[in-house]
Amino acid sequence: MGGDQIRVEQPSTLEHLTEFARLPYHVYRNREAWWPPDIQNEIDLLSGKSLLSTYLEMAPFCARRDGRVVARVTAVINRRYIEHWHEPLGQLIHFEALEDEDDAVSAMIEAAVQWLKARAMLAVRSGFAAFLDYPYAIDNYGSLPSFLLRDNPPSYHRYFKQAGFITEKGQVDYTAPLTPEIQARYRSVSGAASASGVRVRSWRDYGFLAAIDSWTDVTTAAFDKHWGWNPVTRGEVRPMLMSLWETPVADLSMLATIGNEVVGAVFSVPDLSPMLVKVRAGAKLPPERGGGTRGALINIGVLESARGRGVALAMTARSFLAMAELKMRFAGYTLVLDDNWASRRTALSAGANVTGNFVTYRRELSTVHPH
Ligand SMILES: CC(C)(COP(=O)(O)OP(=O)(O)OC[C@H]1O[C@@H](n2cnc3c(N)ncnc32)[C@H](O)[C@@H]1OP(=O)(O)O)[C@@H](O)C(=O)NCCC(=O)NCCS
Repeated sequence: MGGDQIRVEQPSTLEHLTEFARLPYHVYRNREAWWPPDIQNEIDLLSGKSLLSTYLEMAPFCARRDGRVVARVTAVINRRYIEHWHEPLGQLIHFEALEDEDDAVSAMIEAAVQWLKARAMLAVRSGFAAFLDYPYAIDNYGSLPSFLLRDNPPSYHRYFKQAGFITEKGQVDYTAPLTPEIQARYRSVSGAASASGVRVRSWRDYGFLAAIDSWTDVTTAAFDKHWGWNPVTRGEVRPMLMSLWETPVADLSMLATIGNEVVGAVFSVPDLSPMLVKVRAGAKLPPERGGGTRGALINIGVLESARGRGVALAMTARSFLAMAELKMRFAGYTLVLDDNWASRRTALSAGANVTGNFVTYRRELSTVHPH
């Protein structure tokens, strides 16, 4: 532990925000493979120039020891979340830290927590916020996680628990091998759904731009009571997804309709690792993790009125078949709450297994804890 000069700061200049955004390069640089951050996107978000900015109040914090940034976090007040759940919950996103920096991390987290407390927040969460944060890995340390998910070092759990946090939720990531037998099962599931009046189409076949809006509407309605989520708007989702129409996202993402009503939506991506992952020279990714062979279903929702009729399973089957057509050998079914049995059973019925585990942390600010 460095006992030397620890300073907690709130970066605001472009130079300091860039230093903040680049910390993952120091944390993960010795990894064989890792997903680097989108630096510009992060700086835009922190500078209030993102489409999400109207809903957020944010304050980045970093800890320096002997002048060098060793930890970072951003305190967030997400007004949409607070209004939706009627819960004054603050969030800590962007958390990263170097090893053996316990004193610096404690001081920094405490400063961020006090910032939230001063703004009347009664609890703090770290590890899940719609479009902003993803949970902490509790296994597979050192191997490439699914797209969007973390491959944090194990020390992050010690850091959060020392700061008075407890595990609020567990989440799982699934992977299905796209074997010929499993694909045959998908075809029969898909046939059964269409025989019962459920029509599943790719976003490309439905019309990509209209599909984006339908995804937004179905997701906002389907996730209304889903822990951790908040409503999202067409205005913010359109520019996020619009540029993807000429990518395989348009063929892998699905919409389900019954009559004229869109009742289900799936957003899926091809294997983005060849484009985005930093791989050490000479290293090769296992095919179930990436390298061009692992697609992923990122999000699935079905309107309450249409649930329990096989809509989710049919959309999953069609998305995974489309991945197989594009030569992917594995399909991820990414990030399900431990107690979301409807979604977990959908994954199981699609032949997927649990391949990664994650947690989200929480601290009540009204409770006295040993610090
Ligand atoms: C999860 C969700 C997409 C499932 O949609 P659905 O169309 O009702 O699911 P299906 O009818 O295709 O059923 C798929 C499997 O889940 C099971 N299932 C469906 N609802 C269930 C429930 N409430 N409890 C337990 N199992 C359930 C079905 O029996 C089926 O399993 P089986 O193949 O072993 O019989 C839907 O509940 C939903 O939109 N929930 C809110 C949003 C959400 O949680 N999305 C997933 C985030 S990871």
